[in-house]
Amino acid sequence: MPSPKSPWGARLEQHAWANVKTVDIGTYIGKKGLWGKGLGTQITVALLEMAFNQLNADRCEASSVEYNERAHKALVACGFKKSGVTRQSAFVNGRKWDRFYFDILRDEYLQIRADLLKKTLGNKLDEYIKKHCTIKGY
Ligand SMILES: CC(C)(COP(=O)(O)OP(=O)(O)OC[C@H]1O[C@@H](n2cnc3c(N)ncnc32)[C@H](O)[C@@H]1OP(=O)(O)O)[C@@H](O)C(=O)NCCC(=O)NCCS
Repeated sequence: MPSPKSPWGARLEQHAWANVKTVDIGTYIGKKGLWGKGLGTQITVALLEMAFNQLNADRCEASSVEYNERAHKALVACGFKKSGVTRQSAFVNGRKWDRFYFDILRDEYLQIRADLLKKTLGNKLDEYIKKHCTIKGY
């Protein structure tokens, strides 16, 4: 999560339930002036790479309060699909809200991975693939 010195933060937790490896992620950019410039996508793709390239996860999930349309769009732009709702499970600004869940499966990510990496890494893509890619057939 963000430190007092950093305007952004990221969270990643992994768990296995019924033999399926899931990674749960969260992204936070504290300064509104930094929103809408692609930073959220970069952080999310970095977390997806940790989940699928490094931790070999089967699926990745994220959640957000029902009114946070920007966060939902940012997740969908990275290939996530809405997977469910937990009712009245967040308390913000004096009232309870539903929480929307999103997820992406390993195969779904691998299909869009090249495009997302190109978009976020630009001319550093080749170097990244050479040094860090563990997935065959990129
Ligand atoms: C949600 C958050 C991480 C998104 O990061 P961001 O840097 O603003 O998002 P990006 O610039 O990478 O944009 C990602 C997508 O969001 C959508 N988006 C961005 N700005 C938008 C805007 N002004 N209106 C609507 N959608 C927008 C777009 O679909 C974009 O995809 P595209 O590039 O294919 O068009 C960031 O706004 C944030 O930290 N907000 C506060 C905390 C939070 O809500 N955290 C997440 C949930 S707990």
